Amino acid sequence: MFTLSGVRSSKLTLAAMLVSGLAALVGCGEKKDSAAPAGNTGGSTATTPAPEGATFKVGHYASLTGSEATFGVSTDNGIKLAVEEQNAAGGVKGKKVELITYDNQGKPQESVTAVTRLIQQDKVLAVLGEVASSRSLAGGPVCQRLGVPMISPSSTNPDVTAVGDMISRVCFIDPFQGYVGAKFVAENLKKTKGATLYNRAQAYSSGLNTNFKEAFAKLGGTVVDEQAYSDGDNDFSAQLSAIKAKGAEFIYVPGYYTEVVNIAKQARKLGLNVPLIGGDGWDSEELKNAGDALNGCYFSNHYSHEDPRPEVQEFVKKYQAKFGKVPDGLAALGYDAAKILFDAAARAQSMSGKDLAAAINATKDYQAITGKITIDANRNAQKDAVVLELVNGVPKYAATIPAPKN
Ligand code: PHE
Repeated sequence: MFTLSGVRSSKLTLAAMLVSGLAALVGCGEKKDSAAPAGNTGGSTATTPAPEGATFKVGHYASLTGSEATFGVSTDNGIKLAVEEQNAAGGVKGKKVELITYDNQGKPQESVTAVTRLIQQDKVLAVLGEVASSRSLAGGPVCQRLGVPMISPSSTNPDVTAVGDMISRVCFIDPFQGYVGAKFVAENLKKTKGATLYNRAQAYSSGLNTNFKEAFAKLGGTVVDEQAYSDGDNDFSAQLSAIKAKGAEFIYVPGYYTEVVNIAKQARKLGLNVPLIGGDGWDSEELKNAGDALNGCYFSNHYSHEDPRPEVQEFVKKYQAKFGKVPDGLAALGYDAAKILFDAAARAQSMSGKDLAAAINATKDYQAITGKITIDANRNAQKDAVVLELVNGVPKYAATIPAPKN
């Protein structure tokens, strides 16, 4: 099976993924259990689609299962809420919005399969996804090649939108997020030497690790040790022992929540009690599984549910009423991505991929839950970041770091 390690820099790997994804779809009669329909919104189902053109069809590919399952589920919930509201308000250009979501199990290869199916079989007009940058780097080239716009709610690696004009995002990118972490550590926590521990197999994690290191050095800090792990690893004691021996005052951990919980618990067991600092990949209700091992730890994120802006509090209330929990950053970004798509569709000259992408890319000053969104020349959004502190696994607002001034 495909491994993630090549995704970071190799265009060849992406091409190979695309080819093998299509081969799987065309040649092997397609596994029905992979990239399976995962429920939708709008009355009909993915297996009995409405006649072509009768609805405004939107595809979503997401990790609804696997070690990043809360990413996909939260994002899908946010999108569902936006779709429900849009349909209650008359849909898009008089058509009801139909959402089709496929589970990619947190795998890049399944992302290729899911996106291909959404476009070629379901004939969606636009694609939302993915959260994880490595999976957006797998799905994006399919959208670009087939001429269907894709909006990533939350992939922060710069390469994601560099794929082409069909691909945009509604979140900030990692050179900024790395700076946010470094600035908070240097200026708020007053630390001067730290270590990093990142996932070498994820484009997001390895990229953000580099961005953090560069920003921390510019602020006068020193990285005394740099350690790495890979997808599926669950024993981090060798890396943590090495870090402990170097006398780091903090550890920057730009990974995803499942690993972060294990890393925190294992660090404390080794008597390594320095704060862990992370990025948006920590954002999950599952952090509660770390208990007090993450107390005094911080991560940068796209939004805080404690933000007093009325539109945020209104969103939190609606989401809680529908899903019975506080929306995380993924839910807010999923909601925002869908709203931006509907706003663009209403402005677009036609529903062709080209016109729809042009309208998305022309988005300016859209007042969203996660902040004001303008899609810039590189099809990214520049927004403020928040830093959240963990108290028994529950994130509390700590600081806002403003977006860079142009
Ligand atoms: N930014 C992460 C990535 O690019 C994904 C993520 C976003 C995870 C927001 C959690 C919250 O891989």
